[in-house]
Amino acid sequence: MTEAREHWGSRFGFIMAAAGSAVGLGNIWKFPYVTGENGGGAFLIIYIAFVFIFGLSLVMAELVLGRTTQKNPVGAFKQLAGGAWPLVGMLGIFTGFVILSFYIVVAGWTLAYIGFMTSGQLSTADPAALGDVFGNFIGESTSPTVYAGVFMLLTAATVVGGIGKGIERVAKLLMPVLFILLLILVARAVTLPGAGAGLAFYLTPNFDAVTASTWTAAIGQAFFSLSLGMGALITYGSYMTKSHSLPASAASVVALDTGIAILAGFMILPAVFAFGFDPASGPGLAFITLPAVFASMPGGIFFGVLFFALLAVAALTSSVSLLEVVVTYLIDEWNFTRRTATASAALVCFAVGVPSALSQGAVDLFVINGTPFLDLMVAFTDFLLPLGGLFIALFVGWKMGPAAIAAATNDGKARLPFASVWIWVLRIVAPCGIIWVLLQPILS
Ligand code: PHE
Repeated sequence: MTEAREHWGSRFGFIMAAAGSAVGLGNIWKFPYVTGENGGGAFLIIYIAFVFIFGLSLVMAELVLGRTTQKNPVGAFKQLAGGAWPLVGMLGIFTGFVILSFYIVVAGWTLAYIGFMTSGQLSTADPAALGDVFGNFIGESTSPTVYAGVFMLLTAATVVGGIGKGIERVAKLLMPVLFILLLILVARAVTLPGAGAGLAFYLTPNFDAVTASTWTAAIGQAFFSLSLGMGALITYGSYMTKSHSLPASAASVVALDTGIAILAGFMILPAVFAFGFDPASGPGLAFITLPAVFASMPGGIFFGVLFFALLAVAALTSSVSLLEVVVTYLIDEWNFTRRTATASAALVCFAVGVPSALSQGAVDLFVINGTPFLDLMVAFTDFLLPLGGLFIALFVGWKMGPAAIAAATNDGKARLPFASVWIWVLRIVAPCGIIWVLLQPILS
């Protein structure tokens, strides 16, 4: 425990790691299907508004908590306030388990799809056939569980080595490749015959489609995509040194994450309409739509393999940050070794993930009132993350207040325009907004 805490190698390294945490399945798998389920353009506008109103302020708040205390989420609250506040950190650890448990399942699907691309079963643009391949695969009991286990192992193997060397280097190299590939696929998708209907769906706000659940979905998606509300950014902030400008780093991470989600929408939604899929297909949307895009382009198999491999890497840089929250907590607060902490957290999380892996048709028990366990976990997350964010906003806004501004700006050395606006967003706007959104299902 006397060992000095590790720190990110550079500001660029931190941004890549934090963007690595933010950019993942949330952007490429979840964002397009949630947009599809919630009427397209109107959802996009609400989502972007939430990212700017709550997202940026809260990303900064979490980073301030971590960097100031150099502690895990529970330790950070203990050091600054004590009382009941460390429970907010505990809520984050719990949320981390919930997310990771289904995250490894979906990431496992991407691993499987790397192989499916080469086996020929996806070389068709027929929606029904692609839907069958996906449905049959996730409806099985063994493969999805095994793939989830393999992905959990990959995550644990990375976390055990400490995150600096491995993950920072891989992320720096592969995330830009993923970005370029995304641009190529967007170019293909928007030029497909019939893509126009998808673009119209995505870009024309239809506020009639907005219901109570749209607001919850949008706020949940904003928090999920930014890795916000459960302490991942407190944890990553705790490995930050004072020498970097925190507001500028926060803004870069938010911009990268949001940009990539919007691009993913341009890749999936036009293709959905061009090939006649249903935009409200749910969690399978990317897995049924993308193969059709690949089948319709030269070198499709090559691009397909590359794409699912890069998506798996993007998911890995996110799942690592989820596991790291739990591991840092066990090391800081319970004196676990990194090895024991990683092994036990990974094992428990995998066990919690099994019902999700088996909920897509394999075991009826895991379909509750018609909703698969995995989808329930996703919905639970959409609630838990904003709840965590609510307490973090109140804490940094009211308990820290001006001290948070000093901490964010290195005592005035780094630029933070509208510093007092930031504090008032944390004090009033974000808490009221979050409460209002979370109450929507009850109010309407
Ligand atoms: N932001 C990640 C994604 O979009 C998921 C995540 C959520 C990671 C919360 C860490 C914490 O895929």
